[in-house]
Amino acid sequence: MTTPFDVAVLVGSLRKGSITRRAALALMAASPASLKCRMVEVDMPLYNEDIETSPPHAWTRFRGEMASADAVLFATPEYNRSLPASLKNAVDVGSRPYGKGVWNAKPGGIVSVSPGKIGAMGANMALRQTLVFVDVPVMQQPEAYISGAADLFGEDGTVKNAETEKFIRDYMAAFAKWVEKLAQRTG
Ligand code: FNR
Repeated sequence: MTTPFDVAVLVGSLRKGSITRRAALALMAASPASLKCRMVEVDMPLYNEDIETSPPHAWTRFRGEMASADAVLFATPEYNRSLPASLKNAVDVGSRPYGKGVWNAKPGGIVSVSPGKIGAMGANMALRQTLVFVDVPVMQQPEAYISGAADLFGEDGTVKNAETEKFIRDYMAAFAKWVEKLAQRTG
């Protein structure tokens, strides 16, 4: 059997009771055998070029954990119709030092999550925009805007209804195909 692709899963919420984290756990649980998903935490000091000479441990930890990944899956909430600062900061930290970024054409996926009705579409699109510049080819279809998410997931990522479970399973199957097509294995 071939080694599964190593997928870094980034969650754009820092709070303990995060709905988005629950959704990310559900995505990870539904991933096919060709992917091995692991969460990479994005809780880091804000990017500041002045301290690149002696970068904070959290930056080097993040860059190290991302460097070995073959692909990246983002699960994002929406803050004021855009992506949360924590996730944008992770994109920025991963993009530097110049020429040594971690994104490197890794295939990506975006799943946006909201208790509201629009499924965090603004965050999804804003994240997509910044990923264009760091050269992460994001899967176009299927898109994933998960609305009404407050009651969809248990704490451990259990999915509470069959329709959402199928959607998540189908999304991960499509994402696996995207990764198989585009990933350049690092390991
Ligand atoms: C929000 N929330 C929100 N929801 C949404 O659908 N669109 C939005 O633009 C915003 N804006 C927003 C700004 C800020 C600063 C906060 C704190 C929240 C509500 C948000 O979807 C809700 O708090 C989610 O539960 C956040 O995701 P996690 O932390 O549960 O994963």
